[in-house]
Amino acid sequence: MEHAKRMAREFFCAGSGGPEPYTGKDMLAAHKGMNISEQEYLAVMDDIVGAMSKHKLDEGTKNDVIAILYSLKGNIIRV
Ligand code: HEM
Repeated sequence: MEHAKRMAREFFCAGSGGPEPYTGKDMLAAHKGMNISEQEYLAVMDDIVGAMSKHKLDEGTKNDVIAILYSLKGNIIRV
């Protein structure tokens, strides 16, 4: 869990301009062989959107993050 939390934090920090770098695997390498379904992917998206709402991120930022996450879909589902 510690590793997962650290990677998630780095991933979002680096993706939103840093300065913290992301030191983990790329999304394809990280999820390869997990046989992740569309529903599982959507459940993670829901959790991320929920976390952003809980922390009162503005709509523009939330939409940007959703668009970026959506663009990664092909590297995560059933790879
Ligand atoms: C947009 C959606 C997602 C994003 C942005 C994301 C992001 C990440 C990142 C940054 C890592 C760390 C890679 C590393 O350890 O170097 C990771 C690992 C992982 N992801 Fe995802 N992920 C997504 C969806 C999912 C889904 C849908 C599942 C399963 C239902 C999943 C399961 C895992 C697991 C099991 C790991 C390894 C955790 C560990 O070794 O500590 N991910 N993901």
